[in-house]
Amino acid sequence: MAPFLITDQKSIKEAAELAILSIERLCKTLPFLPERRTEDLLCRIEWMVREGRVYGIEKAGRLEAFLGWFTLDDYRNLGRGALTPDWCSAVRDESQTTALIAPLVRRLLTDIVAEGLGVHAIGIPSSSSTLLEEFSLLGWGRIVADASHSAEELHTRLSALCESEAEKDSGTLVIRSAGVSDAEALCAIDTKLAQHIGQPPILMSGAHGSTIEEWRQWLSRNDQITLIAEIDGVLAGFIRADPPHLDVSYLVHGDDTLAICGLFVEPAFRGRKLGARLLDALVKAAIEASYSRISVDFETMNPEARVFWLTWFKPVSWSLERRF
Ligand SMILES: CC(C)(COP(=O)(O)OP(=O)(O)OC[C@H]1O[C@@H](n2cnc3c(N)ncnc32)[C@H](O)[C@@H]1OP(=O)(O)O)[C@@H](O)C(=O)NCCC(=O)NCCS
Repeated sequence: MAPFLITDQKSIKEAAELAILSIERLCKTLPFLPERRTEDLLCRIEWMVREGRVYGIEKAGRLEAFLGWFTLDDYRNLGRGALTPDWCSAVRDESQTTALIAPLVRRLLTDIVAEGLGVHAIGIPSSSSTLLEEFSLLGWGRIVADASHSAEELHTRLSALCESEAEKDSGTLVIRSAGVSDAEALCAIDTKLAQHIGQPPILMSGAHGSTIEEWRQWLSRNDQITLIAEIDGVLAGFIRADPPHLDVSYLVHGDDTLAICGLFVEPAFRGRKLGARLLDALVKAAIEASYSRISVDFETMNPEARVFWLTWFKPVSWSLERRF
């Protein structure tokens, strides 16, 4: 089975239909996710055909699998890299995954290497376990997860926990909305978050926090939510969120999605459910602002964050990377 380069409308439509089948399987396991239609995927795959490359494999004139990629100018602060988003690969019959993916991956890596790129990342929906296993066996490793949950369900689970935690409080905990006058303090604590991301075991290259000016601009926006936790007047942690950006999985995008993009609790205050209480307060603010779904993306090599987020959220897609 030799892969071919998809350029024609018939194959693009078949690829969109395969992608939709994969997203429907995902939505069955995670019913709080937004619905997608074939037309939504059609224009995305058309974009990929124009801007990148999409390969397909056919049997008896029917598309059985496809895989696409494009070049990112700056992949995770490393320079140019190749990316396959989590809506741009699918296999019709999962029992045929190894046989179908092998030729597609050979073609993909041959072209990526010829382009002078040294890294490829792929997003895989969490319900596509066979595809995930295949890429793992082919040498890709997990680096990032996009996770999500319904705001109402999070609210029910978190408020039960947070009420019982509040009864144990000895000091005064205040969780409040941050204003522009908090920019300097937030910049300082955000630098600690960036240091955490730059250190082992995460080792994200070029990790840096936002400057005071960037925080001022952020806090002036009316589509963001930033909450600060203070214990006896001391800044103990923060959480922030806004509508999903391009680096957040398309599978969670929607007007009713709020995407968390920062959480930090000072080491001295960790393990006391402060993270959960910040999240609880954020979820309440999100519901008040009419969001029905919350999402987050995190580095899988950040163990504290991974355990924390997977306590509250369901994985939607995993991103894997291979360097060569
Ligand atoms: C993630 C973080 C915000 C959690 O804050 P917290 O106040 O300790 O959170 P909670 O007390 O509500 O929950 C902590 C949970 O994390 C887990 N955890 C904490 N430290 C851990 C560790 N060293 N290894 C594994 N799990 C750990 C525990 O399972 C704990 O849950 P449990 O109490 O049910 O056992 C905090 O560890 C932190 O600031 N980390 C550094 C910054 C960071 O990684 N931010 C996330 C960026 S995506």
